[in-house]
Amino acid sequence: MSNENGKKEIISVLYDAQAIDKRLDEIAKEIENDYAGEKITLVCILRGGVVFMVDLAKKIQNITVEFDFMDVSSYGNETVSSGIVKVNKDLSQPITGKNVIIVEDIIDTGNTMSHLKNHFVSQKPKSLKLCSLLDKAERRIAKDVTIDYIGFSIPDEFVVGYGLDYAQKYRNLSYIGILKFEE
Ligand code: IMP
Ligand code: MG
Repeated sequence: MSNENGKKEIISVLYDAQAIDKRLDEIAKEIENDYAGEKITLVCILRGGVVFMVDLAKKIQNITVEFDFMDVSSYGNETVSSGIVKVNKDLSQPITGKNVIIVEDIIDTGNTMSHLKNHFVSQKPKSLKLCSLLDKAERRIAKDVTIDYIGFSIPDEFVVGYGLDYAQKYRNLSYIGILKFEE
């Protein structure tokens, strides 16, 4: 696929659908064990987290699961988010007293999550954990962000697929790939 600058976009596979599926089995089991006998609310951060959350949720069958969704935009320049977050769509239900797991596509600088966390904590959930498909730890700026469930730790590369986009494209890929540009 070519972008508006006429550059060819090349994607090399980092994790294929089978590898993702296997890792999701493991995370789902971990969550089922950690919350045995409890009810959880998975909060998807739109839009990147949606593919991951849906597939993960289908693998969690031993405990009661509720869904909620939040849509945020993070201001910043092209490469570093500022962490100044605009809430485009807030939670539909109060999370007070609930076991909340935030489901994200990727934690990069961590600035977005650092800000979002405060938004959640202020509502006094019973517990709050963070589950991210990808962790780009090398790029972390916000030191107060810890990820409780990590799908894969990845190097500092721009990745797309399985929910992650470049200019809103590629979210529908069944795999996670590294995006490169060629003349
Ligand atoms: P933050 O830098 O941790 O605040 O990340 C902000 C957002 O940038 C993430 O939620 C993603 O939507 C996006 N992002 C960061 N790295 C990548 C990437 O490699 N591919 C696609 N989106 C990314
Ligand atoms: Mg995101």
